[in-house]
Amino acid sequence: MAEAFNSKRLPEAKATRYADVAGEIAAVLEGEPNLTALMATVSAMLAQSFERFFWTGFYVVDPVRPQELVVGPYQGSLGCLRIGFGQGVCGTAAQTRRTVIVADVEHFPGHIACDSRSRSEIVVPVLGNGGQLLAVLDVDSTELEAFDEVDAEWLERILADAFGATLP
Ligand code: SME
Repeated sequence: MAEAFNSKRLPEAKATRYADVAGEIAAVLEGEPNLTALMATVSAMLAQSFERFFWTGFYVVDPVRPQELVVGPYQGSLGCLRIGFGQGVCGTAAQTRRTVIVADVEHFPGHIACDSRSRSEIVVPVLGNGGQLLAVLDVDSTELEAFDEVDAEWLERILADAFGATLP
């Protein structure tokens, strides 16, 4: 068991832990429409729930430059401020609107190294009510191959719950 927010003990098994954390996040966010509050809370709660999560945060579609992502709420070391659509892992996930899992960042052409300690990552698109791309969630780890389909499935579910009913 690992310690998380509110001194709650979390299960070791990944899927079970995600189920627990997803419930906690949904309970905390209930009724909150503000996007910054949602992103700040999701990044804080995820970062505290998984030791593997070295950098956990959002890159948001910039309303002024809609082909660019700009850094949003995050937990971790200093992140790059802007990423163009199609650039790096985040920009690829934004452009394709698909979750991208990278087992080893050195083997991802064009990977953007904001912090050289990051070795693997997962980036999940965040879609709003009308299917519009709001942001991407980027989670990086200092371990190789830290993320798999279980992470993808649960992070997609947590984001759909948190942002699926939000308006642009
Ligand atoms: N890894 C990302 C860049 C963002 S930072 O790592 C926080 C990418 O290649 O898109």
